[in-house]
Amino acid sequence: MKFSYKIRKLFQPLTYRRSWRRIRRVLHPIPLLPLLAKVDQKRLSQLQAELGNPPPDAPPSWRHYAKYLDLEKYLRLNIRRVQDLNLHQTSSKEILDLGCGGGFFLFVAQDQGHRGLGIDTGGIPVFDELIDLLGVERMLYRVEADEPMPDLGRKFDLITAFSTAFHGGKDNSWRWGAKEWEFLIDDLEKHLKPGGQIFFGLNPAYAGEYYTPEILDVFLRRGAEVERENVLFPAKAA
Ligand SMILES: C[S@@+](CC[C@H](N)C(=O)[O-])C[C@H]1O[C@@H](n2cnc3c(N)ncnc32)[C@H](O)[C@@H]1O
Repeated sequence: MKFSYKIRKLFQPLTYRRSWRRIRRVLHPIPLLPLLAKVDQKRLSQLQAELGNPPPDAPPSWRHYAKYLDLEKYLRLNIRRVQDLNLHQTSSKEILDLGCGGGFFLFVAQDQGHRGLGIDTGGIPVFDELIDLLGVERMLYRVEADEPMPDLGRKFDLITAFSTAFHGGKDNSWRWGAKEWEFLIDDLEKHLKPGGQIFFGLNPAYAGEYYTPEILDVFLRRGAEVERENVLFPAKAA
């Protein structure tokens, strides 16, 4: 089957699904203001002043990630992520978030009664400070191709990765292929509880595409629901 045909087929019901998700968000809102009220606004203003405009000799990623100091914008985005994964309407879950950045997703999820652990390389001041500000538990670790994750001390009901960068980002010349994705998914499954699920919200890292045909095949063979950048794997068997 041709890649372009496969993609068209996947996206046919997309408009319908997107509209339905929008309706669901309206029907079951997560209000922004109570979340904002939990954040130390004085400290946030200090961070915006200190880190909002990095010096010219700072690494380019610091400038790029300064946008995450717009707390309202990123809380809104992560409220939608939490709603779309239905986390505001389920019992308490253990969540692992790979490449957690500033911890927005886990902050919103925690507010809905879940327990989160973020994984990230660290070392980006905006994210290091936001993690602290939002009170998210983070483990410093670099996800690497073909390397099993360390013991995380517990298993998870949900493993997420949003706007992923571990497979090769803007600043890298390399990209993961199908083999590396397959290894990661196999490895992540070992950290899932029975019934647990993996969700990726991918970056368009492959010349503007979210995956290559080979990587899409890996996802589909494993039974994932793929909707453009969103990849949701089926629940792990008991
Ligand atoms: C574009 S940011 C997204 C942050 C967050 N997921 C979000 O959507 O707000 C990508 C994040 O992935 C982290 N990252 C990049 N490569 C990584 C790796 N190999 N292992 C773990 N984290 C990584 C970066 O430090 C950064 O925090």
